Amino acid sequence: MTDQLKSHYEKPAEMYDGLRLHQNENTAGCSPRVLEALRGITRENMGFYPPYSAVTDAAARYFGVAADHVALVNGLDEGIMGACIAYLRPSAGSGVVPEAVVPEPAFEIFRFDTAVAGGRLVQVMPRPDFTFALDEVLAAITAATRIVFVTNPNNPTGVSAPLDAIRTLARRIPKEAIVFVDEAYAEFAGRSFIPELPAFPNVVVGRTFSKAFGLAAIRIGAVIGAPDTIDPIRFAIPVYSVNIAAVVALQAALEDTEYLAAYLRQVKESKALVYAACDRLEVKYWPSDANFVLIRVGSRVADVVEFAKSRGIFLRNRSSEPGCEGCLRFAAGVVEHTRRGLAVLEEALCAER
Ligand SMILES: Cc1ncc(COP(=O)(O)O)c(C=O)c1O
Repeated sequence: MTDQLKSHYEKPAEMYDGLRLHQNENTAGCSPRVLEALRGITRENMGFYPPYSAVTDAAARYFGVAADHVALVNGLDEGIMGACIAYLRPSAGSGVVPEAVVPEPAFEIFRFDTAVAGGRLVQVMPRPDFTFALDEVLAAITAATRIVFVTNPNNPTGVSAPLDAIRTLARRIPKEAIVFVDEAYAEFAGRSFIPELPAFPNVVVGRTFSKAFGLAAIRIGAVIGAPDTIDPIRFAIPVYSVNIAAVVALQAALEDTEYLAAYLRQVKESKALVYAACDRLEVKYWPSDANFVLIRVGSRVADVVEFAKSRGIFLRNRSSEPGCEGCLRFAAGVVEHTRRGLAVLEEALCAER
């Protein structure tokens, strides 16, 4: 089992002594108001199990849903694991191995968590342009399907799926199944399936505060959906998995709407710079609705990533992902960081020619 799990996910090496453009993080970090709020944590706060109602209400307001439609989780990773345990664990004597349908290329954690839960992975291979392969995903659905994963916008491509594709999937899955819409990058896209949830109680939306809000280190995310659908996920994860620092940080972050808006503007400007550089360097890229860009540099990709690393710029080689041969992923954050990253990418590509 260990080898099987290892083949599904390998954690990126720990690299902090350079510019991190390889894990789609917020390169500016969190709002300064978060640090101020964290400094206000008292000894008593630390001694008690954390309170969740006020922060859940604040998150529910942010998402525009009722509080019982939100479960806060220790990073969206935990929400995905909870969904896999809740929906993909084989039940004794049923004779059914629950299936997870994963349109590729996808966030590797779906493969990993499916294996941990004991489910069967059904991969759907991508189209060359990475547009959402609705017909192929529909063809992969069987009576044993229990989760269909849709990442919107997708990681590592940055390409969005039409909301109508999600509606179609929700109408076509077995009654015991869910569509799990991973919206880790939704703030950058400015689009969400959340307003549609009342009409689709078999859809769960996953969100994170790691990316647009810059809270990756503190670990806070949410799953959103009809209470009957998200309760099994809630029950599959530890009751106090969100710690007091995450509670305090999230409340402060949600209040600083200006900080969020300013960061979204930086990302937009950064992506335009990345596209312009790719055009100049004559390398293919996919216009992205997220905070990163997938770039096809070709067979030299490993050398380009190594060269950039030697210059203190960390990029992610994605060439082993389905459909991503020769591709690297470049995070677009603070404009000045993007310029530094692009200068090194340009140097690497010119050196490789
Ligand atoms: C598609 C997707 N979902 C979920 C996550 C994990 O989010 P979190 O940091 O909240 O666990 C990531 C992080 O990179 C991601 O890319």
